[in-house]
Amino acid sequence: MRKLLNKLLIRFGLLLTKAPQLLADKSLQTSELFPAELTEKVTVRATQNIPRNDLFDIFAADTNVHKWHHYFEIYMKHFARYRDRPVKMLEIGVFRGGSLRMWKEYFHPDSTIVGIDIDKSCKAHEIADKNVYVRIGSQADPNFLAEVSGEFGPFDIILDDGSHKTHHQIISFGALFRSALKDGGCYMVEDTHTNYWIKHVDSPETFIELSKQMIDMLHEPYFNRKETNFRLGHADAVQELELSYLAANLESIAFYDSIVVFDKKLKTLPKSELR
Ligand SMILES: C[S@@+](CC[C@H](N)C(=O)[O-])C[C@H]1O[C@@H](n2cnc3c(N)ncnc32)[C@H](O)[C@@H]1O
Repeated sequence: MRKLLNKLLIRFGLLLTKAPQLLADKSLQTSELFPAELTEKVTVRATQNIPRNDLFDIFAADTNVHKWHHYFEIYMKHFARYRDRPVKMLEIGVFRGGSLRMWKEYFHPDSTIVGIDIDKSCKAHEIADKNVYVRIGSQADPNFLAEVSGEFGPFDIILDDGSHKTHHQIISFGALFRSALKDGGCYMVEDTHTNYWIKHVDSPETFIELSKQMIDMLHEPYFNRKETNFRLGHADAVQELELSYLAANLESIAFYDSIVVFDKKLKTLPKSELR
């Protein structure tokens, strides 16, 4: 009852403040600075081709997985480097367990694959003797996420394929990126097209909007500074800076159609050299 009331309050509050944006699916806004030849409409066609890679072959052999075809190239691009050693992976969203089995087969056999889901019936997809575990709880509950991370983490890979609600994506990223993801780890959020669909947007800013802000955070060292502050041997060069945790630990952000990937790596200060 309290949960329902909270949900209604959030929705009502949002409607008051963001009514025009929330009452319609987003329309595409583009800057007038784009030349017309880049924004003019061109035709894109459907294809019958299927992806050709190891992971798609594993996917195609199981009937209980739900994935978009174009994700497989992206998974391979970001996950292939983890295949040669045992990894710990957390997937938010178990559904019929197919993706847990797919990851188990794709990664090193000694890997630990953990799925979380709000639906109790998903527990049936646990295969404990193969290090595939399922825990039941909400991705919007930081305490639950901390418990899972305490039990199995920190993880090499975290994949958010859960509710696809924007406030859930935001809470999970906020709760997991710092303490549950290893240095050198990868955090992937999929189905971010839902950030443009009214029924999934339930936060004042979408996850995609926060991801765009993280592009600025990647550049935090440069705000109000100049090149000589980073130049090797220069009198103005700074030796240390106070940066936000994200700025200090985010190596890169990759945006794809419906997927955002964050690579985590503790940075040192950038330096330039004039020879
Ligand atoms: C898209 S399905 C997962 C599909 C699965 N990863 C696959 O590839 O086959 C989404 C899952 O998220 C779960 N879910 C919905 N809300 C959730 C929440 N708040 N916390 C955790 N899981 C949630 C649903 O029960 C559903 O099983």
